[in-house]
Amino acid sequence: MNVRRNVPLAAYTTLGLGGPAGAFVEARSTQRLIEAVTAADDARTPLLLLGGGSNLVVADEGFDGTVVRVATRGRQVVDAGDTARVLLCAGEPWDGFVAWAVANELAGVECLSGIPGCVGATPMQNVGAYGQEVAEVITAVRVWDRRDRAQRTLLPKECAFGYRDSVFKREARGRYAVLSVAFALRRGGTASVRYGELQKALGEGDRSLARVRETVLSLRRAKGMVWDPDDPEGRTAGSFFTNPVVTGAEADAVLARAAGVLREGESMPRWPTDDGRVKLAAGWLIERAGVTKGWTVDGAGVSHRHALALVNRGGTTRALLAMAARVQDRVREAFGVGLEIEPERVG
Ligand code: EPU
Repeated sequence: MNVRRNVPLAAYTTLGLGGPAGAFVEARSTQRLIEAVTAADDARTPLLLLGGGSNLVVADEGFDGTVVRVATRGRQVVDAGDTARVLLCAGEPWDGFVAWAVANELAGVECLSGIPGCVGATPMQNVGAYGQEVAEVITAVRVWDRRDRAQRTLLPKECAFGYRDSVFKREARGRYAVLSVAFALRRGGTASVRYGELQKALGEGDRSLARVRETVLSLRRAKGMVWDPDDPEGRTAGSFFTNPVVTGAEADAVLARAAGVLREGESMPRWPTDDGRVKLAAGWLIERAGVTKGWTVDGAGVSHRHALALVNRGGTTRALLAMAARVQDRVREAFGVGLEIEPERVG
């Protein structure tokens, strides 16, 4: 196995931040991936599985352990009537899969266009956008179980998917290495268009999968949520905070505090969740708490295009986390709401 030492991780994260990895291995096959994980576990060194690095905040000091870059590629398609079952290796780029599905008239992931990162990371946080989430189409997740040292297939129920949440972030944190993910897509199916902003942008025009994809891409671009290495405003980890989910009474209390900052004719964004609670818009709360888009301290700033994204403008991880803390403080002071950091922190 080709092990490299002291590899700077900044080049492997969309934020462009992070110090060196003690050991760095690239796994190009599933077998190699299992071997690399097992070797790190045998040596009792901390392990970081790295996909697209789009949801990762690595400390300036780096990561004193083994980084295994998941570079496994492969796609298998099995037809089952109106459904296409697609099995993808963990290292497949997510948006390549979406583009392929849309081009082949396979419905189910079109609203998830333009999301950076790899397939294997999507079950972790149940990636979602514009009214769709991967939990709707995942049929199985094949994993390496580091505890039992065996491969296992997890069914959706065992993954315990929720809003930006799954068993991989909770009870089973660190236990599994995702090897591949199976999806069920609808052949010739129609696009699911549930998100208000997307419905508005599509208007009366056709709702082909291709048009939905193009529309989602342009909405994301306008918010700086399509990663582009040449765009200085694009050095982000997407949404830096999750949208807070609160009880109805808590939402009313926030609304009472927001009364003074509501613009004429404006209402506070809030959506009911399946479990009877209320989801609030973190981006809205941040702006109304007085945080101005573009605010930058020590090279870490709030995006000019979307208040929920923090941008690395030539600073450090320390500066970025300090910025996050400032934003959290402002929102807590203004509305009594605590914002949770969404990307994974390492080191
Ligand atoms: N808003 C503001 N100011 C802002 C940003 C948003 O007032 O700077 C308001 C908007 O006007 C809207 C509400 O907040 O009323 C929601 O905004 P938006 O539609 O942009 O979505 P979001 O809740 O901020 C979530 C996801 C995104 C996903 C979009 C679209 C989370 C944490 N983020 O953002 O996902 O693309 O919905 O579905 O749930 C990501 O997770 O990295 C990500 C980009």
